[in-house]
Amino acid sequence: MTAPRTHHSRFGIASTTMVHAKGIRKSYGHLEVLKGVDLTVPSGSVACIIGPSGSGKSTFLRCINHLEEINAGLMLVDGDFVGYRLEGNKLYELPPSAICQRRAEIGMVFQQFNLFPHMTVLENLIEAPVRVKREPVAQATAKAIDLLQRVGLAEKRDSYPRQLSGGQQQRVAIARALAMNPKVLLFDEPTSALDPELVGEVLEVMKSLAREGITMVVVTHEIGFAREVADQLVFMDGGVVVESGNPREMIANPQSPRTREFLARVL
Ligand SMILES: Nc1ncnc2c1ncn2[C@@H]1O[C@H](COP(=O)(O)OP(=O)(O)O)[C@@H](O)[C@H]1O
Ligand SMILES: [Mg+2]
Repeated sequence: MTAPRTHHSRFGIASTTMVHAKGIRKSYGHLEVLKGVDLTVPSGSVACIIGPSGSGKSTFLRCINHLEEINAGLMLVDGDFVGYRLEGNKLYELPPSAICQRRAEIGMVFQQFNLFPHMTVLENLIEAPVRVKREPVAQATAKAIDLLQRVGLAEKRDSYPRQLSGGQQQRVAIARALAMNPKVLLFDEPTSALDPELVGEVLEVMKSLAREGITMVVVTHEIGFAREVADQLVFMDGGVVVESGNPREMIANPQSPRTREFLARVL
C-alpha cells in the first residue's frame, strides 16, 4: 500500500500528507465514541479541532498516535501505520517496543502539561531523546538549551516544574515534545488549564511553530487562534466531523446548524 499524497502550498512546497485518517471508528464497550472520522492533514499545515465536550476529540487524537487502538478505518501518519506492519495484505500488530519507537515521532502536548515533577526543566527535555533515541547527553543538552531559548525559558533550565507558572510549564512541555524532532505535534486543549492571562504566551509559541512549518493537530476552544493560525478547521460533534474547511469562512458562515449553534456559544 502506498501513502496517499497531496500537494500543499503553505510555503509553495509540494509535500505529502502527514496524517491521513479515514473512517475511524472507536468504541468503549457498547459506547461508540468515533463513528467514522475522516481527516487529512498535509505536511506543514495546522488543523484545529473544535467541538463540544464528549464529542470524541481527545479520543481521536489518541487514535492518531495509537494510544487507542481503532476498531475500524485507516490511520496513517507520514504514510505508515503507527501500531502495525503490513505484510502482503495483512496487518500485524507491532510489539510494544516498536510502537514506542514510532510513537516517539509523534509529539503530544496535554492540557495538564504532564512534566516529570522530580526532574528539572533541562532533565525533562533530555530524558526521552537520551533514553528512547539514545542521543548523547551533550547533544541532547545543547538541543534542549536551544529549544528553551525558542520558548523563552532559557533561564529556567534548572528549575523544577512546581517552581514555574502554568504557562511556563506548558511552554516547557512544548519544548520537550520538540526535543524528539517529531513529524507532527498533537495538542489536546493546551491552554484549557491555564489562568486567562497565561493563555497568550502559550498560543504565541504555538503560532511561531506554525510559522516554522511544523505540522500540528490542535484540539482547542481558542477560536481566535484557530481563525488566525489554522489552515483547516474541523468541527466534531457526536463522534463525527460535522463540518470542516477554511477557518475564516467556516467561522463567518457555518454551513451546518450544529456548527452555527456551537460557534454562537463559544464566540
Ligand atoms: N477510556 C474510556 N473508557 C470509556 N469511555 C471513554 C473513555 N475515554 C473516553 N470515553 C468516552 O468517550 C466520549 C468522548 O470522550 P472524549 O474523546 O474525551 O471527548 P472530548 O475530548 O471531545 O471531550 C465520552 O463520552 C467519554 O466519556
Ligand atoms: Mg478532550
